[in-house]
Amino acid sequence: MGKAPATFGASTHGLRGDYSGMLADYTVEQDYASYDESAQDRWRRLYARQMKLVPGRACPEFLRVIETLGYEQGVPRFEEVNQRLLAATDWRVVAVPGLLPEHVFFGHLAARRFPVTVWLREESEFDYIVEPDIFHDFFGHVPLLFDPVFADYMQAYGRGGLKAEGLHALEYLARLYWYTVEFGLIDTPQGLRIYGAGILSSPSEIDHALASPEPRRIAFDLRRVMRTRYKIDSFQQSYFVIDDFGQLFRETAPDFTPIYPQVAAQPTLAAGEVLPGERLYG
Ligand code: PHE
Ligand code: CO
Repeated sequence: MGKAPATFGASTHGLRGDYSGMLADYTVEQDYASYDESAQDRWRRLYARQMKLVPGRACPEFLRVIETLGYEQGVPRFEEVNQRLLAATDWRVVAVPGLLPEHVFFGHLAARRFPVTVWLREESEFDYIVEPDIFHDFFGHVPLLFDPVFADYMQAYGRGGLKAEGLHALEYLARLYWYTVEFGLIDTPQGLRIYGAGILSSPSEIDHALASPEPRRIAFDLRRVMRTRYKIDSFQQSYFVIDDFGQLFRETAPDFTPIYPQVAAQPTLAAGEVLPGERLYG
């Protein structure tokens, strides 16, 4: 299905990726020669397949940027993407072996560094991969980091994560990340569009998210999202819809310290549950 689990929340034990040569902040060098010709070819085919799907389905902020990144040539070089990204929003990508411990992940985001997995999925994983790989990260996440408001949201999220450690609130923050950064939808004058990286990098969830009658598409509400469980091994049963990145930034700007206990006091909601009176999109 080609979608990825949350980028954090797992220990590095039992994870794919070589964590042996990394620095203390979990970063590694991108060994560009390690992508052999079959990997480069696989990247180009992943990119071409996904680029056929995103017009009219991804949000304009994504589409405006994706074609400027040179991804059609092969696996991106971190330094080249960083030249553009630093100029646009003062973010950078850093190469990492794979999923990161929460604290490390939050620290990178808080410093405007987005961790990108260095390895590319195998041919047998062309349609479905469990962990985020370099294609998911560069294709799904990096284009939105060029948007100034979304870029600020990501940094705020990282700071919020560091703050939430010890408040027993990481589960709520993980749900927020999941239903926005990974699986978020956005309402535009042209109709619903996708901004979540987990959808944008998946060949099959794009259509499910926008066109299938199965999932619920629910107006974004911070507490509602924090209460909602999610599925990591199937298409989402619910998506949450924002009006624009400004709304996302504003509604997550208040101090969450008093909000977490309020959310904890309310019942947890199943992934596909709908509450009475809830506004659904078509
Ligand atoms: N406002 C949140 C807090 O005070 C931080 C945050 C911002 C968390 C954006 C997630 C997203 O904890
Ligand atoms: Co991701």
